[in-house]
Amino acid sequence: MSVNMENDVKDIIFSEESIRKRVRELGDKITSDYTGISPLLLGVLKGCFVFLADISRSIKLDCEIRFLTASSYGFSSVTSGKVKIESDLDYEIKGRDVIIIEDILDSGVTLTALRDFITECRPASLKICALLDKPTRRQVPIEADYLGFQCPDEFVVGYGLDYAERYRNLPFIASLKPEIYS
Ligand code: IMP
Ligand code: MG
Repeated sequence: MSVNMENDVKDIIFSEESIRKRVRELGDKITSDYTGISPLLLGVLKGCFVFLADISRSIKLDCEIRFLTASSYGFSSVTSGKVKIESDLDYEIKGRDVIIIEDILDSGVTLTALRDFITECRPASLKICALLDKPTRRQVPIEADYLGFQCPDEFVVGYGLDYAERYRNLPFIASLKPEIYS
């Protein structure tokens, strides 16, 4: 394991500056779309933690912020096709205007499972906000209502996204050198 994470980076795909600008735009859009509404931002752990921290501060509304955990990848970079949802939510979803905040939409399996799970709790409305989308990888049809960037079909890390729980604290989004996976 290298001590300097940046040595493991192949290419920077989205810079710190471009992410900051785009996240602000998304926050502004949500602020205007939800005028007079107090949305419930529901962050999908763990990958959302940086994105949610930033976008929530660009949303100039009285929001409630909660988290749930969805995992499908384990320590591999290929989806297992199974989603485990862990949440202590019950009453507070009903009648709320929920915005799911997710790091990346890939096969769509995770967000589909989450959407179905939340829908059963009968929210007043439900939208999906994802920082990244890899549309070519989709296995089930689902789209984000608010999207940061379309991402090339490459495994990416940084800004909350991990490989085996590492690289989440890189301030940009990057691909990794192939030798990291072997
Ligand atoms: P999906 O269920 O295949 O759409 O996968 C969504 C989840 O897979 C995301 O929340 C991420 O945790 C993880 N994931 C998918 N692609 C990547 C990637 O390129 N880097 C890091 N995590 C990823
Ligand atoms: Mg994840």
